[in-house]
Amino acid sequence: MYYSDELVEEVRERNDIVDVISGYVKLSKKGSSYFGLCPFHNEKSPSFSVSPGKQMYYCFGCGAGGNVFTFLMEYENYTFPEAMKALAERAGVALPEREYSQEERQQQDLRTRLLELNKLAAKYFYYQLRSERGGQAMAYLKGRQLSDETIKSFGLGFANKYSNDLYQYMKSQRVSDELLRESGLMNVDEKRGMYDKFWNRVIFPIMDVNSRVIGFGGRVMGDGKPKYLNSPETKIFDKSRNLYGLHVARTSRKKYILVCEGYMDVISLHQAGFKNAVASLGTALTTQHAALLKRYTNEVVLTYDSDEAGTRAALRAIPILKAAGLTAKVLHMQPYKDPDEFIKALGADKFQERIDGAENSFLFEISMLEREYDLRDPEGKTAFYNAVASRLVEFETEIERENYIEAVAAKYQVGFENLRKLVNRAAMKGMPAPKAEIRREKKAVEREEGIKKSQKLLLTWLIERPGLYGQIKGYISPEDFTEGLYYDAARLLFEQFETGNIVPAKIINHFTDTEKQKEAASLFNTSLRVETKAEMEKALRETLYRVRSHGIAQRRQKLAPTDMAGLQRSIAEERKLAEIKRLHISLE
Ligand code: UTP
Ligand code: MN
Repeated sequence: MYYSDELVEEVRERNDIVDVISGYVKLSKKGSSYFGLCPFHNEKSPSFSVSPGKQMYYCFGCGAGGNVFTFLMEYENYTFPEAMKALAERAGVALPEREYSQEERQQQDLRTRLLELNKLAAKYFYYQLRSERGGQAMAYLKGRQLSDETIKSFGLGFANKYSNDLYQYMKSQRVSDELLRESGLMNVDEKRGMYDKFWNRVIFPIMDVNSRVIGFGGRVMGDGKPKYLNSPETKIFDKSRNLYGLHVARTSRKKYILVCEGYMDVISLHQAGFKNAVASLGTALTTQHAALLKRYTNEVVLTYDSDEAGTRAALRAIPILKAAGLTAKVLHMQPYKDPDEFIKALGADKFQERIDGAENSFLFEISMLEREYDLRDPEGKTAFYNAVASRLVEFETEIERENYIEAVAAKYQVGFENLRKLVNRAAMKGMPAPKAEIRREKKAVEREEGIKKSQKLLLTWLIERPGLYGQIKGYISPEDFTEGLYYDAARLLFEQFETGNIVPAKIINHFTDTEKQKEAASLFNTSLRVETKAEMEKALRETLYRVRSHGIAQRRQKLAPTDMAGLQRSIAEERKLAEIKRLHISLE
């Protein structure tokens, strides 16, 4: 972290979280908290809560959570220093410049300068398109049926025929060669020196989720090759972490996001009213893309080209999306090649129909599998069913498996029972020993999860009921919170209780990476549904007991056999543990 803890804390304190988040989300008061529709996933009823007391937010739907800094980092995709800067400005706190290290400053400066340079270039291209020289390019775009509004909203531009134009312009703006080299906008070779990378092309600025220009794509106007040229990866342009159109799609508030292949598909779809369309930037979909998508939606409809390459791309994307926890569907475009062509031929309503009829990704995979077998031949057919059965085995729950068996049976007109038998046989063949092992592992994980949950609950309760700490502190210590991060959080919280200054939002800042901050926020926002006070007291006692006894057991395991003092301490702890069962906890 580049700023002192005191300064970070000052900025946090001066930015009331309810005020800040109200600027983004419509909140209404319910009890001691505020609720609204979660900006990090799509939902119809509000499960996003903001607590003025804790100065934290938490979504009971998707688990997003944190303090005012993490909110801006998540929502605006800011880095921590960027969030700090925005909030300091908002509250009128002056930030010292010197607290960056030299190298950090340079890196930060370089990023900022590159972003500024890209903006300058985008404006230049934009202007060129509208100038006299841009006539042919404008005609090309109009010929592709793009409206003025669309051309404007995507910031489309033109790099003209004179291959040194942009370079000259940048020079007139006193941009250094060094920075231009880092920008990816120039080619450099020994003979010619530095010259424009893009010329005589229509320009598509590529924006990140915050609408900052991070790179460019340039298309020839006609059939030349290569069809598109793209900016190379730079300090600010990482193709595997950005999606074209996401800055608009993320605010479209549709239940799903359409993922397609090309710039033109995205633009065409947006123009037709499908503002939830994005494209990967001429690369295959990556796990980072999937994680990015998951921040804004739970469901992806793949609208890849209908050719062989598009089909293969869809087959590769499905497991990646699923692993990120997204539901995937596949849209059928036939007889058209891509969304742009489809929309032009049949219009938006028909495209919506295709979305509604998009195929479940598993069934899509099965249809692709089918093409590898000759179903007219009994042997081929049997082999196909066996292959399908071994795929069906992979479903975790029985109900899911049965549903899919039913769907496949209906689609291929085989008897449900017959197919189920085949699946069962495939399951038996599928190595029973590892299965048992997986089951054992799962049990262990569940137990582990149970303990985690108990530790989380206890931390939440401690914060929500300040009177509790005094009553149970003799029975529990930070060491009982065994997970690395839980321990740190508990230790910090217990310290705060001892000094009487309880500020959970401050604890979040002790964790520097976003995943940890999110997890720390969830520690203070776990809930358990209990009806009466008596039930609550019982739950508290049991949770306290569980956490403590698990803590004692863990410490005992680590004890050296010769550590007599340690053993005695452990026995004393255990004796005291029994008292918890009779402990009367008052919830007043
Ligand atoms: P397409 O060839 O399908 O292009 O490539 P498109 O976007 O549909 O454009 P039009 O309609 O033919 O004008 C899909 C994507 O693959 C990348 C681009 O990101 C493109 O949008 N691509 C394609 C390249 O990067 N370079 C190429 O030469 C071709
Ligand atoms: Mn295409």
